Amino acid sequence: AAKSEQGQQAQIAPVAAAVAAKTLTILYASQTGNAKGVASKLEQSAKAAGINVTLKNIADYKAKGLKNESHLLIVASTNGEGEPPDDAIEFHEFLLGKKAPKLPNLSYSVLALGDSSYEFFCQTGKDFDERLKALGAKQVTPRLDCDVDYDSECQSWTLKIIESLKDELTQADSAVTSVSYLSDLPTAGAVSQYSKQNPYPAEFLLSQKITGRDSAKDVRHIEIDLGDSGLTYQVGDALGIWFENDEALVTKLLTELNFSGDEKVSLKGANGPEEFTLKDALISQLEITQTAPSFVEFWAEKSKNSQLIHVASDKNSAREFAGLHQIIDVVSFDKADIDAQTFVDALRKITPRLYSIASSQAEVEEEVHLTVGLVSFEANGDTRTGGASSFLANRLAEGDKVRVFVEHNDNFRLPQSDDTPVIMIGPGTGVAPFRAFMQEREAREATGDNWMFFGDQTFTQDFLYQVEWQNYLKSGLLTRMDVAFSRDQAEKVYVQDRLKEHAGEVYSWLERGAHLYICGDANRMAKDVHQTLLDIIQDHGKLSLEQAEDYLKSLRSNKRYQKDVY
Ligand code: 2AM
Repeated sequence: AAKSEQGQQAQIAPVAAAVAAKTLTILYASQTGNAKGVASKLEQSAKAAGINVTLKNIADYKAKGLKNESHLLIVASTNGEGEPPDDAIEFHEFLLGKKAPKLPNLSYSVLALGDSSYEFFCQTGKDFDERLKALGAKQVTPRLDCDVDYDSECQSWTLKIIESLKDELTQADSAVTSVSYLSDLPTAGAVSQYSKQNPYPAEFLLSQKITGRDSAKDVRHIEIDLGDSGLTYQVGDALGIWFENDEALVTKLLTELNFSGDEKVSLKGANGPEEFTLKDALISQLEITQTAPSFVEFWAEKSKNSQLIHVASDKNSAREFAGLHQIIDVVSFDKADIDAQTFVDALRKITPRLYSIASSQAEVEEEVHLTVGLVSFEANGDTRTGGASSFLANRLAEGDKVRVFVEHNDNFRLPQSDDTPVIMIGPGTGVAPFRAFMQEREAREATGDNWMFFGDQTFTQDFLYQVEWQNYLKSGLLTRMDVAFSRDQAEKVYVQDRLKEHAGEVYSWLERGAHLYICGDANRMAKDVHQTLLDIIQDHGKLSLEQAEDYLKSLRSNKRYQKDVY
């Protein structure tokens, strides 16, 4: 039906219809830039295949125009808890709402990015895919749900989709014969030659513990030198860190598995298979400190351990179990008779970790500062530590090289106007980007008010950057600061309790245009703070719950409510 209708249009207005029918629109919904990167590569491959293509941020796309599209690709990432990225909120609401038009003439495909350790894995992509189908659009290729190590899967999907669109979307006399994939595309606007795939070997300058001796936590202030890399960042950006696993942990894992480490294994690389010894692969190529739920299923199947089989039989329990165990803990459950290649095929490739940058170049020039909490927990009577955080905290010495890149985040930016007030909510290591905000606002001599909410366990052990905050208060740059030390009294006190205590003022700051930022724990803190904000807006704006939700939604789509949560 779709074809004949386009055919009829062609008879009436051949030229216009030919143009309309032969255009591919690619929309990306990115939170940190991954979806944008994938979409740019799709665009390049489409161009190389001779397809007339338009690439757009979904935030800049008028959803009503969907009914005029013939071919649409959406690349969408998902926030931790299954919400669409900020840029996609309006489009998502329109498409899933009652006013969305029927789309019988549309051919589409969705590429979803996510993290399988979250319950609502790839939810935004699934929402788009299912809804487009329900509106009558035709799916060209099944949706691809990508996990954190998405590079090679995205590459094959890109080749497949462009191959299948090529004939429909290019002129018969087009000279293009094969579809190519440009794997080393620099990200738009970046001036440096360094990128995620081509990281800069930066000098590690300093790691200083900034929690007290009696703290339950080990948080480090870290300084890295970007030297003459040409890498630049804005406050709100993140630094990507490529890390190596702890050799001692790898040795233990090899012993547990009865491997020598000298076995040859082959891994998928950007340009085909690459050979490694098993030991090298486990140190520098494969994820062993985070466990995918699929590995739990794999080991259950191979070991035939009844306890593991039980855990793996339910998606939620597999995910929960994976979150509490490293690879060594899973394989310690029971033996399995497998060869080295089968084992590495079940592991994910190492992916770099992103840390919110804690400095402004206006203050620290070619340096970049991070606030890193060492991940540490007990399992099997041993202490397990996070792959990247223990690399930064324990295994790098001053002068060593660390491979880094800058991950731009346009969804966590200071207001354009220096007069605009800001409210910052950043307990724990969530403080990092707000230290950067203050450095930036000081350098800019910004006159807008700044209100910081910080929280942690105890005042004496965990007040991160205490002296700096006190100085900002003294100088007047920081208008006010409210702190919540949860374990300094019998009753827990959290940042949201401080927000509640000052609800009237929080609301009046919002009413006079304040931008609101949350950084830190996504699971509990950011949700509870969001709920508290809803309460405050209902009470002080005399609004219903639904109206308060709309109030926050409109702040979000106006980039006045931004989250950097993990
Ligand atoms: P707790 O560990 O004493 O419960 C930074 O980690 C701070 O965030 C700690 O003081 C921690 O308190 C607190 N925190 C824990 N859960 C929270 C929640 N749901 N909302 C806000 N803060 C929370």
